[in-house]
Amino acid sequence: MVVLGIETSCDDTGVGVVADGRILANEVASQTLLHARYGGVVPELASREHVAILNQMVKRALQTASIEAADIDLIAATKGPGLIGPLLVGLTYAKGLAWGLNKPFLGVHHLEGHIHGALAGAEVEPPFLVLIASGGHTHLYDLPRWGEYRLLGATRDDAAGEAFDKVARTLGLGYPGGPEIERLAAKGSEVAVPFTIPMKNKKSYDFSFSGLKTAAVRFVERGYQPEDIAASFQRVAIESLVGTLKRAARDLDRNKVVVAGGVAANKLLRAALKRSGLQAYLPPMDLTSDNGAMIALAAWHRWQQQAESSSLNIDASPYLPLGEEAV
Ligand code: KG4
Ligand code: ZN
Repeated sequence: MVVLGIETSCDDTGVGVVADGRILANEVASQTLLHARYGGVVPELASREHVAILNQMVKRALQTASIEAADIDLIAATKGPGLIGPLLVGLTYAKGLAWGLNKPFLGVHHLEGHIHGALAGAEVEPPFLVLIASGGHTHLYDLPRWGEYRLLGATRDDAAGEAFDKVARTLGLGYPGGPEIERLAAKGSEVAVPFTIPMKNKKSYDFSFSGLKTAAVRFVERGYQPEDIAASFQRVAIESLVGTLKRAARDLDRNKVVVAGGVAANKLLRAALKRSGLQAYLPPMDLTSDNGAMIALAAWHRWQQQAESSSLNIDASPYLPLGEEAV
């Protein structure tokens, strides 16, 4: 079964082709340069860029996959959460294509996409825990069975990736901040700057990252070295994520964990998970950030569970809790 997946929830235009769970193409056009001078994503510019290039991206993905449009069996697109304009571009395009080709259409939850990107076609059965850490989300779920998500905890303020971005900006580094912090941290000391692990003694599974950003500003003013700030910040941010995940796994007696979202690219996080004794599933590096293949993988998986298409009347949803969406 060939699935076309379209992802336009933010500033990346992603189109992927998956055949029976195997990725044949995964074309991503990043808009990072377009938004760089504004210091963040400008939704209207993002929408227009998606409109300008989506059709070309679909053609390119079909070419890479060596298939024709008529070979597609299912067309999927992100329906939310995300920026409303960008979401509407991908969703409307996908519905139009499905209608024109007379193929079924499926709206996919963005986070379900990240989860299946992390699994990358591996046959993993629930129960397992899911940690999603990106620029917009830091959510910890228990997944007792497919389609059922129990939210255990979430960030009370900034998302984990957002904290990397903000600390990077404080240190005068570029965007996205995660890779920049990681690079600078390699030259610094993890223990030189006295950051404290947020929420460490709390019983909940919530996270909090805004205090780290404020602390970073203070440490810059006090004259600590940027590389030491980067390394020490990175250590506590990752310890907060992995520590909470380990505690939840122990409490709920889960040994499998899926970690997804842009922060899953972090090497310290990957090493900490390796040491944790948990069976951790992480996306391959090219599937950590937003892409179309993860949407196609999630759609393919859902279709195996239940071959039921979405209505062409479904709308994009900027706020969409996982597990509560209408098909
Ligand atoms: O999932 P993603 O590509 O986009 C969404 O936010 O949905 O995640 C991007 C976020 C950014 O905040 C970026 O700084 C962070 O993921 N990130 C990282 C790393 N690579 C990307 N954070 C820590 N370490 C990294 N290596
Ligand atoms: Zn994402």
